[in-house]
Amino acid sequence: MTAPPDEHREPPSSFVEQANLRDRTICEEFEANWPGCWEQAADVLDWHREYDQVLDESNAPFYEWFCGGELNASYNCLDRHIEAGRKNHAALKWEGKRRETRTYTYQDLSHEVNEVAAALRDLGVGEDDVVTLYLPMIPELPIAMLACARIGAPHSVVFAGFSADALATRMESATSEYLITCDGYYRRGNAFNQKSKADNALMELDNDVTTVVVDRLGEELDHTLDERQYDYEDLLIAHAGARVSPVARDGEDMLFLMYTSGTTGEPKGVTHTTGGYLSYAAWTARTVLDVKPEDTYWCSADIGWITGHSYTVYGPLALGTTSVIYEGTPDYPDRSRLWEIIERNAVDVFYTAPTAIRAFMKWGEQYPESHDLSSLRLLGTVGEPINPRAWKWYYTHIGNESCPVVDTWWQTETGGIMITTLPGVNTMKPGSAGPSLPGIGARVVSEDGSTIEAGEAGYLVIDRPWPGMFRTLYGNDDQYVHEYWDRFSVDDEWVYLTGDGATVDEDGYITVLGRVDDVINVSGHRLGTMEIESAIVGVSGVAEAAVVGGNHETNGTAVYAYVSTDHSQEPSEALEARITDAVEDTIGPFARPEDVIFTPELPKTRSGKIMRRLLENIANHEPLGDTSTLRNPEVVGEIEAADRKE
Ligand code: WTA
Repeated sequence: MTAPPDEHREPPSSFVEQANLRDRTICEEFEANWPGCWEQAADVLDWHREYDQVLDESNAPFYEWFCGGELNASYNCLDRHIEAGRKNHAALKWEGKRRETRTYTYQDLSHEVNEVAAALRDLGVGEDDVVTLYLPMIPELPIAMLACARIGAPHSVVFAGFSADALATRMESATSEYLITCDGYYRRGNAFNQKSKADNALMELDNDVTTVVVDRLGEELDHTLDERQYDYEDLLIAHAGARVSPVARDGEDMLFLMYTSGTTGEPKGVTHTTGGYLSYAAWTARTVLDVKPEDTYWCSADIGWITGHSYTVYGPLALGTTSVIYEGTPDYPDRSRLWEIIERNAVDVFYTAPTAIRAFMKWGEQYPESHDLSSLRLLGTVGEPINPRAWKWYYTHIGNESCPVVDTWWQTETGGIMITTLPGVNTMKPGSAGPSLPGIGARVVSEDGSTIEAGEAGYLVIDRPWPGMFRTLYGNDDQYVHEYWDRFSVDDEWVYLTGDGATVDEDGYITVLGRVDDVINVSGHRLGTMEIESAIVGVSGVAEAAVVGGNHETNGTAVYAYVSTDHSQEPSEALEARITDAVEDTIGPFARPEDVIFTPELPKTRSGKIMRRLLENIANHEPLGDTSTLRNPEVVGEIEAADRKE
């Protein structure tokens, strides 16, 4: 998949000259001084109390970083920039769906964060109480995150596109008794009711929940407030001018949890800490994304996912830069929207996903060409493998061949970027993410855990801890160990399993091939096949379901659902609609299957296990390989025929 050597690119010298990191010996330095090298990351922050130990491995794989240190994330993202005389510098630039714009200076942001923090305290939120945030891309989302951080209440942001059921499950799992949501938001120009989804979720919960509602749509959408529901604006007025001193948090205290999909049906609460996570998000934003305080920086990911947490909110604001937030989609009101935002704001660094780049390619270069993109200095991508063709298009048509492109591999669990080229140092090889970052031990191993030869495919693992790593799964230490550390660890040599497959070349460049577990990645949304399957088998008339990822031109991967019906039901369009609706209700519209393929039976091994690999091959029209181990080989032809009919 990696481009041939004549298509490799060196970082432009104009970039190298100004790069935050251009020291070619950094990898050796980090190796020679590991884990002490990570003090460099901790030094990006201001600590209320200095730490006395960089890493404590005594309870591995429950690692602790920067032990004994105390700090506050909102202080690091706000107060310290104001104290440094930068109160009038823009912190957030918000671009609304309907072309409204709002700019918050560090002073403005600090004001509102303090008021919200005071209001939350008044509503009863204490240190360590989990506050759930269910908000679209509006400034109140990062404001609420920082307000929680200020009072030491971990936030759990649930992506606004999730369904009521999904919100309820996450709130229940986190025993969260506080929710911040909004009346609604615009989706493709139409008012969309978010509060009714939130209210439905609250009805499913046993405990009482205190809710704050942001009025995003004003008169466009009426809403009423029930008991225990408060209007955000009213709370601001009631707490106008309030100051809340930032709570000193232990470095290891939880900053937030973020639910993500895994191989079981239940979402997992990935927990991140205040010291390690924030240091790592800020350090990687500085070294990889080259963020500088005077930049205008734009990461287009939704804040409801980890990328937005680390690289729209925490990393950039800890560095005191200007971070752009865009509420809308790239093609509304037209396909020039992103390029128009870049031109108008003179964006320096742009970070997006391959799925978006593939869509831009399809639309054509006339859209970016009609805008002045010369402010751009660096481009980044994240979320899925990027193929060399899309990489080159991005490099040429957006970056004008003068911006390095960083293809950054990481996960919700890793907290920040792990594998990439350093833009001021490394040669770029389109299609390959790059080497491990300095101090990061990414390797590719075979089934038995031994390191594989260059060019062969294997499991991507990380063999050393790093500051940004998650510390556990919320309330489930056993699953944390079992799911991530059991597979390849030997004695006390702990090896973290990423769940991805990869190859590595002679230069140590890693090409990520995709998930090797039951997780599929649709347009950068991470979905568990089990979660989707359990939604489908809940539909009456469905006997069995198997969900796989199949190649999709724009989204990279799409969800294909193979379904067999029970005696009571014949396959029908109505049943198909009930199935897709069920997925939408349990998870959200983004998880809807691209296709539902009815089959009399699912292919199974003799021991009764569904052969997903085979279904994947069918979905991708690939050769089927050996089907002799199947209990019911005759079913394969029937599924292929059904698939072709679609
Ligand atoms: C995939 C998103 C190839 C991978 C930050 C990983 C990538 C999953 C890349 C994590 C990349 C992320 N190249 N694949 N540059 N970046 N992935 O938790 O499969 O939403 O395991 O975190 O996305 O998705 P998550």
